[in-house]
Amino acid sequence: MASTDLTVLEDGGRTRDYGPPRLIFELTNICNLHCSYCLRDEDALYHTRAEFFSLELFDRILKEAREAMGITHVMFTGGETTLHPKFREVIETVAAHGLKCSFVTNGWHFERVWPAISANRNVVTHVAFSLDGATREAHDRWRGADSFVRLVRAFSRCQHEQLPFVIKSVLRKDTLPQLEQMAIFGARMGASALNFGHLLPTSSGFATGPAAASGQTSASTSSRNADPTVSLRLLCIDNLLEYGGDHTGIRDWGLGIGN
Ligand SMILES: C[S@@+](CC[C@H](N)C(=O)[O-])C[C@H]1O[C@@H](n2cnc3c(N)ncnc32)[C@H](O)[C@@H]1O
Ligand code: SF4
Repeated sequence: MASTDLTVLEDGGRTRDYGPPRLIFELTNICNLHCSYCLRDEDALYHTRAEFFSLELFDRILKEAREAMGITHVMFTGGETTLHPKFREVIETVAAHGLKCSFVTNGWHFERVWPAISANRNVVTHVAFSLDGATREAHDRWRGADSFVRLVRAFSRCQHEQLPFVIKSVLRKDTLPQLEQMAIFGARMGASALNFGHLLPTSSGFATGPAAASGQTSASTSSRNADPTVSLRLLCIDNLLEYGGDHTGIRDWGLGIGN
């Protein structure tokens, strides 16, 4: 793996160096998609009042965190980050504090928020896009029709405008056999990193199966079946990553946190 900078801990152990402290904000609890494996609470996403992080509170936290912790970077997650009605003001607040930011998104609304990003190019370091498969069929199976096409459009926008972007994928039994293809696809689209997240348990158990067999993501398809083969197959992943990293052109591989 490329990112092997290690920091020595007080007890002599070593850990990867993640750089200066960063703050992660959940900008909103709502989402326009409905991925059945999503770790976010169903009620929060779809059945409770939409909440959007208050700009005033955001401003205050940035000020205090900067003074107290010396943060330099802010990351946004959700829900779907781009649904915040004051997305532009959020970025401008980051700029006003002299900080940088990045956000993770499903990409659906990327064209709509592009002007806000474009106007703050020196503030947004990169965008992280979630990818659930190497093909339209595989990705849309989780994220719904047209998700893949919109994602590709967003990739193209970033590449054309030279805004760095990374791809985030979840390790599931359906994504493991596609990792190499996903890496090659990402590299061809111009991604500068491919980050993997372990599948986290949801409130209904572990989501390891393609739940939306109908081709649409749906609340009613929560077949969150545990799959004991996943952990075994994860043992093989390092080799696959090394192999994929040799010829895809992707510079950074790793089991990533954050954006
Ligand atoms: C919760 S989403 C929020 C941002 C945005 N809506 C998106 O999908 O990119 C953030 C990331 O968490 C991942 N994720 C969702 N459910 C997960 C789970 N059960 N385990 C691990 N990662 C998960 C998504 O694939 C996405 O990359
Ligand atoms: S797009 Fe993101 S927040 Fe929305 S359901 Fe999918 S993983 Fe969850």
